[in-house]
Amino acid sequence: MCGIVGYIGNQDAKEILVKGLEKLEYRGYDSSGIALLNDSGLHVYKEQGRIAALREAIDEQEQATVGIGHTRWATHGKPSRRNAHPHLSNSGRFTVVHNGVIENYEELRAQYLLDTPFVSETDTEVIVQLLDKWVNSGLAVEDAFRQLLLEIKGSYAVALLDNQDLETIYVGKNKSPLLIGLGPDFHVIASDAMAMLQVTNQFVELMDEEIVILRQNFKRIQNLNGEVIQRRPFHVKLNASDIEKGPYPHYMLKEIDEQPIVIRKVISKYQDAAGDLIMDSEIRDCMKKADRIYIIACGTSYHAGLAGKQLIEQIADIPVETHIASEFLYNRPILSPKPFFIFISQSGETADIRGVLVAIKQMGYSSLTITNVPGSTLSREATHTLLTHAGPEIAVASTKAYTAQIAVLAILAFDSARAKGIQLNVNPAHELSIAANAMEIMINHKEVMEEIVWQYLNDSHNCFFIGRGVDYYACLEGALKLKEISYIQAEGFPGGELKHGTIALIEEGTPVIALLTQAHVRANIRSNVQEVKARGAHVCMISIEGIEEKEDHVILPAVYEWLTPLVSVIPFQLIAYYAALYRGCDIDKPRNLAKSVTVE
Ligand code: F6R
Repeated sequence: MCGIVGYIGNQDAKEILVKGLEKLEYRGYDSSGIALLNDSGLHVYKEQGRIAALREAIDEQEQATVGIGHTRWATHGKPSRRNAHPHLSNSGRFTVVHNGVIENYEELRAQYLLDTPFVSETDTEVIVQLLDKWVNSGLAVEDAFRQLLLEIKGSYAVALLDNQDLETIYVGKNKSPLLIGLGPDFHVIASDAMAMLQVTNQFVELMDEEIVILRQNFKRIQNLNGEVIQRRPFHVKLNASDIEKGPYPHYMLKEIDEQPIVIRKVISKYQDAAGDLIMDSEIRDCMKKADRIYIIACGTSYHAGLAGKQLIEQIADIPVETHIASEFLYNRPILSPKPFFIFISQSGETADIRGVLVAIKQMGYSSLTITNVPGSTLSREATHTLLTHAGPEIAVASTKAYTAQIAVLAILAFDSARAKGIQLNVNPAHELSIAANAMEIMINHKEVMEEIVWQYLNDSHNCFFIGRGVDYYACLEGALKLKEISYIQAEGFPGGELKHGTIALIEEGTPVIALLTQAHVRANIRSNVQEVKARGAHVCMISIEGIEEKEDHVILPAVYEWLTPLVSVIPFQLIAYYAALYRGCDIDKPRNLAKSVTVE
């Protein structure tokens, strides 16, 4: 949710900044801007819309070796050029980029800046206006910056330039992610290492409430009390090519195709020398001791958490509740005596989830984060971490992270079952491999899903996905994928629940996609299909080998019954993809969204 970059060195900053912003565009893309600092002062360029618009607006002749940049997902103030970052103080001396939310900006304004006119509607502008005021009243810039960060409540990753000092970037971080990149004769900053892999793969992580004074060949990390902190750099193993689209027209299609490989990678990462899938013994103990598991997540990760509930309950016989993070935080259920918390988050940065993590830590509970991003905030702050090893997921709509999360949850379920002495009648690694093969088969039949889109979704404004149990959970994900990238209103529904109200929306031609992978609800779903057909619905039936019927439209290869979400989601993802493609939608960057949601 917003991304920031910065550069100080001896190369042309503008190209590095703009390339960096292009890599961060997934974090928000309603406007963007950069500030360049050189002998003739500060030069700020900003535009509404995509980075491509910013690139066009920048004066190619402007040379600078210091600069900062921002790509925005609007929180305070609508998307516009005026609200785009960087924001300047009224004197023109200071300029800032900020990712996060300053919760007390109105109070700060009322307390210190009643007479200062603001240019934008953002919370961010208070940073530069207040800093300018304090520096004018005699404080050194560094002291004023520290004082300011002490006063701010909320989240921030900020980078600040002073036009009277061509050699320094002031950096601060609290709750929003931020890294310092190291190079020969330069330093960079970035919300995500991906932005700066173009110039370095050595990074230093910043912790909350830290300040950095950054120069070309100097960096000083301090906490807000002024104590200097030494921290070793780490090496980011990604290649720049891991984050390229290659021959694919969209990242989403590439990431859909990568899923069988990802599942095989997950298997290999959790396999011991004997080929068994195992967990870290401390995580196993937590699972074994728990009388109830609480899975906390949002969006697609929440849907993976629902599949995880089914896996852990059915395989390991441990009760599980899966909760939407933003609901759990403010409407906490009565907890069992020995709970264990699992947070699922592709990015590892989601603010709604972090809120719950902070709360349960205060209550003294231990926790596990399942994430795709090593070193992410949720991974650092939870007691344990399991990585999903899906590789960078760039498309805003999550695909391979979802299936990797389910695979890790399955391994956790199998391991917990074994730890509890439950006799497993299957070989987990083998079943997951079969699922990976089945996913590949579906991926190799894209034309079937393309045809379904032509037949069922060509002119439709809405669509229903129905299923029962684990299929209902998969339907929630199918509906979310379709609506977020094609903008078709879609709902995932338990097959038996439609008749309690929603069936009123079914009319001649309404598309209904029905999913059936569970033999024990075969008759129920088939009769739900008859109910909607009788009211004119245009039904596309997706079933699984063994319980299929001749006229079903898609037949999924048979897999272990609790692993079906890994396979059933593939047609859903592809249907969403082709629906969006034919509507001319921006598939990788759907409107109003951002990949990493760091505001509550
Ligand atoms: C939808 C999607 C979102 C995320 C949600 C949580 O395709 O990607 O619903 O799943 O914003 O994000 P993470 O998993 O990063 O916590």
